[in-house]
Amino acid sequence: MATPDPMPLVSRKAQALRGKIRVPGDKSMSHRALMFGAVALGETRITGLLEAEDVLNTARAVTALGAMARRDAEGGWRVQGVGVAGLQSPSEPLDFGNSGTGVRLTMGLIATNPIVARCIGDASLSKRPMGRVIQPLELFGARFEASDGGRLPLTVHGARNPVPITFTLPMASAQVKSAVLLAGLNTPGRTTVIEPIATRDHTERMLKAFGAQIEIAAQNDGRHISITGQHELRAQHIDVPGDPSSAAFAIVAALIVEGSDLTVESIMLNPTRTGLIETLVEMGGNIAIENRRLSGGEEVGDIRVRGSRLHGIRVPAARAPSMIDEYPILACLAAFAEGETAMEGLAELKVKESDRLAATEAGLAACGVSVRVEGDDLFVQGKGEVRGGALVETRMDHRIAMAFLTLGLGARTAVTVDDVGMIKTSFPDFVPLMTRLGANLRTC
Ligand code: S3P
Repeated sequence: MATPDPMPLVSRKAQALRGKIRVPGDKSMSHRALMFGAVALGETRITGLLEAEDVLNTARAVTALGAMARRDAEGGWRVQGVGVAGLQSPSEPLDFGNSGTGVRLTMGLIATNPIVARCIGDASLSKRPMGRVIQPLELFGARFEASDGGRLPLTVHGARNPVPITFTLPMASAQVKSAVLLAGLNTPGRTTVIEPIATRDHTERMLKAFGAQIEIAAQNDGRHISITGQHELRAQHIDVPGDPSSAAFAIVAALIVEGSDLTVESIMLNPTRTGLIETLVEMGGNIAIENRRLSGGEEVGDIRVRGSRLHGIRVPAARAPSMIDEYPILACLAAFAEGETAMEGLAELKVKESDRLAATEAGLAACGVSVRVEGDDLFVQGKGEVRGGALVETRMDHRIAMAFLTLGLGARTAVTVDDVGMIKTSFPDFVPLMTRLGANLRTC
């Protein structure tokens, strides 16, 4: 397939950002609502689904596996579930585009059904490690034919007689945890994942809402999450709240652009996702959470942010899983703070949509920021202002593109990002939404 031409965009210093906005639905919950609906009995209705490329690829994948997912007349989504043992072999390869969550969780679902599926993805996804899910899924009895280094394209041969496993996560990854729990859904007996460091828990919460037999126990070696398989799930209505990882860009923009006063409404505040907010408040950010409420089993609130004077801090490694996708935008904000911000324990950033540690370091250095990587730690020397005036390479990574467009709104001179094409994978309306608030984003 031909690669589309790169689409550069220039971001210039903005006036105060003001108003109220909503960002699209949470990506992690959107993938899961489609997948769990696909293996439940009955029709699942999803409102607030993120209609971005990553999630639309998951909708196509579950449909190809036999569960029909479609948009309804009111703009919600409906999924006709086939039951925990009901998936069928797709006639074509499943194309997950850019999405690690899409492919890794679906591999888990397929692994314990006696079906065969080929999984493919774009150039970025084809470089990412799949061995981390292949290894536990083989223990259930599934077989994989993967490309060199355990990468895509790969073919999954699901186990005919799966056996339950107990698996300790070797890295803090919600995707690996989820792949194992989903494989446990169609496995007789009890499958357990031991999570030494807590990661986002949407899979456990939402599977419980679908009626899965899940038990969670806090023990000395971490959280033990067990699922008893071959129990049917019941279709649900899932209302997906706003994605905190998408809200992060508007929140940071308001903090670094003087005089801003912005409210981002209906954001999911699950404690396994709010590390960035905690960090921004420690840095001196004027942030208030208003109208806290419960929606669809998750805490939700409106986040009011005002332009602030910020100072550098140390962000401990233990906080990384609760803000893993927010480090590029945090590093951009740290450049506007006074003093050093040390971000520790970022090994997982190297295996995201790009090597985000390297991409963030290179982009900041190009913009005149004093930055260094030591091992798995990132250090940014904030000077209270940023020069900008650079072309930043986005490396097929939506979050790198959005982070540096946001940095440009506060920098002295314009920042150009080389390609905004990938933003559609998670936040298709990013540019119009930010422009409506007062951001100055134009084509060259
Ligand atoms: C996700 C988990 C995280 C995160 C990704 C979404 C999920 O990945 O980076 O954007 O929905 O489970 P890892 O599990 O690789 O940390």
